[in-house]
Amino acid sequence: MSTRLTTLPSWRALEDHYKKVSNLHLRTLFAEDAQRGERFSVEAEDIYFDYSKNRVTAETIQLLLKLADEVGLRARIDAMFSGEKINITEKRAVLHVALRAPKGEKIIVDGEDVVPEVHAVLEKMANFSNRVRSGEWKGFTGKRIRNIVNIGIGGSDLGPHMAYDALRYYSDRNLTCRFVSNVDGTDFAEAVHDLNPEETLFIVASKTFTTLETLTNARSARNWLLATLKDDTAVAKHFVAVSTNDKEVSKFGIDTANMFGFWDWVGGRYSYDSAIGLSLMIAIGPEHFYEMLAGFHAMDEHFRTTPFEKNLPVLLGLIGVWYNNFFDAQTVAILPYDQYLERFSAYLQQLDMESNGKHVDLEGNKVNYQTGPIIWGQPGTNGQHAFYQLIHQGTKLIPCDFIGFSQTLNAIKPHHDLLMANFFAQTEALAFGKTAEEVAADGVADFQVPHRTFEGNRPSNTILANRLTPAMLGKLVALYEHKVFVQGTIWNINSFDQWGVELGKVLANRIIPELESPQQPDLKHDSSTNTLINRYRQQRKA
Ligand code: F6P
Repeated sequence: MSTRLTTLPSWRALEDHYKKVSNLHLRTLFAEDAQRGERFSVEAEDIYFDYSKNRVTAETIQLLLKLADEVGLRARIDAMFSGEKINITEKRAVLHVALRAPKGEKIIVDGEDVVPEVHAVLEKMANFSNRVRSGEWKGFTGKRIRNIVNIGIGGSDLGPHMAYDALRYYSDRNLTCRFVSNVDGTDFAEAVHDLNPEETLFIVASKTFTTLETLTNARSARNWLLATLKDDTAVAKHFVAVSTNDKEVSKFGIDTANMFGFWDWVGGRYSYDSAIGLSLMIAIGPEHFYEMLAGFHAMDEHFRTTPFEKNLPVLLGLIGVWYNNFFDAQTVAILPYDQYLERFSAYLQQLDMESNGKHVDLEGNKVNYQTGPIIWGQPGTNGQHAFYQLIHQGTKLIPCDFIGFSQTLNAIKPHHDLLMANFFAQTEALAFGKTAEEVAADGVADFQVPHRTFEGNRPSNTILANRLTPAMLGKLVALYEHKVFVQGTIWNINSFDQWGVELGKVLANRIIPELESPQQPDLKHDSSTNTLINRYRQQRKA
């Protein structure tokens, strides 16, 4: 059992402190300090981060900062940025920060500077993107490419898909961009049903190039293409690959000249600013992609160099630990008030939950404290009319991150002011609520008063930025990447492996032949799984 963390002096102090402050109400904290809003806010990299509506005092923050020091966060940050093999179970460096390092910077892995390779791939991507966007790259029958279909799953889908939606405003509207991930054939069928194969380019994105879902979809895509074009050589004009595995790419039949590489030191969920973002680069153009990388890099530098008390990812991470480990909050809601960020919480689910959903520490000992939270959410205001009821009046404590922008990209009056009025109102309502006295004073009938009372004291962070630009998206993603790192460091877990996805894959591979076999298979599962498989085999014939 791992007890190191919970015996640290700062952890013990936080436990004692929790007992003193956990019942303090945000109404009191704000009443006692007229400057609380400003005092508990930080501005950096064009992001205004207001954490005043959290159940924290100045002492809470001091103790959390002490915790960061005691777990050696500074040394861990330096270890990651300098290319140390901190992913110890896979013996790999963790260098997504190298993907956005400017030319000329040096980051050494196994004696080699990786930055020139990163830029060589970016240039190859830019060149290819420009050829597709200008129509110079043509399909097999000479028609220009109008449709881009990214085939990938997990990190090879969620990142580019989220970022494509987020940056759609900057995209070339003459191109249709779609994403196929699920092994359910419906995903592929619906993605291509109205596309002309002659005008369609598939990007098969898979770090390993062995993922069942992606290879199945890629084979279906090839069949779909060849059903019309009827010539195997057409594949070269309609398929490119993004992978670290050139052997498997050529085995699939894609010319490795049309392969865009990356490296084992990039985790899947940290990879959309590598070649995995090729679909995005084609959609928004290389310049916007480079702007996004500059945003990522700016946040990397902020994280690496800023003292912890003003460091956005550090503060966001520490406040999360406060709720996760001391208030026993189980989840975090991500609530972007921007339709373009529709898939942001889905993206953060993998980033956070695949990274920090771990039950043993770096030494392999079972931890005696909570690790990663459940991440979920939807853009406001839709969420308000769905699940906010529970956040406001339910019995669970759900810390929320509200993300909004002062400027809209679609200035249709009066939408943006209405959207942002809701954004501000929600954090206010959550924090301060409405007392029974206030409700009664409104003339509400007695029997309704308890139902219409809002306890308040529901915590939230507010992240307010100017405008959703490519650079800002890079900053926001890097903010959350580093937040996950901060928390993983405190919990002393490996945020960079994902063994938890393996068992299901192995068992599915065992079941596939049992479903495909024309003869009744000799099933050796438990009685539930055996019955379900038999029932499926029977029913699918109907
Ligand atoms: O779900 C497990 C996982 O390995 C993710 O970490 C990864 O993003 C995804 O599968 C896809 O992997 P690949 O890019 O190798 O196809």
